[in-house]
Amino acid sequence: ALLDASPKPLAGKTAIVTSGPTHEPIDPVRYIANRSSGRQGHAIAAALAKLGADVTLVSGPVTIPDPDGVTTLHVETAAEMLEAVTSHLPADIAVMVAAVADWRVASSADQKIKKMPGEAPAPLMLTENPDILKTVGHHEKRPRLVVGFAAETQNVEENGRSKLQRKGADLIVANDVSPQTGVMGGMRNQVKIISETAIDAWPDLGKDEVAMRLAELIAARLA
Ligand code: CTP
Ligand code: CA
Repeated sequence: ALLDASPKPLAGKTAIVTSGPTHEPIDPVRYIANRSSGRQGHAIAAALAKLGADVTLVSGPVTIPDPDGVTTLHVETAAEMLEAVTSHLPADIAVMVAAVADWRVASSADQKIKKMPGEAPAPLMLTENPDILKTVGHHEKRPRLVVGFAAETQNVEENGRSKLQRKGADLIVANDVSPQTGVMGGMRNQVKIISETAIDAWPDLGKDEVAMRLAELIAARLA
């Protein structure tokens, strides 16, 4: 970084990125989660920083290291992620990559839930989590550029388009997360960039390369 003379088209811009899964507690020792590794979100945070942005990364629980050159905040639940993101507005750019748990347990237990021999387990009552991207996309301090992801296992374009509209995003990065693609938890990603006017299908790339291309696209859209 000391001798980094690469172009900084995002110098002076602030960005908020979410990454990783969230963990929603069932009781003190158990939680609901998903297979997100945080690799794509962390790579995007690093790529935006490389182009000169002042980046705050709000990360759910992941095993990968904090990226260099980025301020990383660690959260566990969707509620904590929402609070961390909204308290960092205003920003110029928001890229919501996290695989936020769609539901949390309606009232998580204070004590470890014990199994009762011979009795059927109690059902878990779930309630919907806040939608962080949608909140940011309709916020009074809405960033100039709001980017979301769409994790799909079918009808990728159609579902991506509807998320673009519903969530008030400028761009949706849609990907197929079916198990056979290996995207969830893996190193590579094949995405479609969906805007109001176009769909651009990118080739299968490493997640770092998707991140760099996306950061360049963001810089071009803000220029
Ligand atoms: N997202 C979010 N907060 C949530 C759920 C999703 O910020 N509670 C964001 C994700 O970070 C992503 C986008 O919304 O940028 C789409 O997430 P996705 O899971 O694909 O869509 P959902 O709206 O949750 O719909 P579904 O899971 O039913 O497809
Ligand atoms: Ca979801």
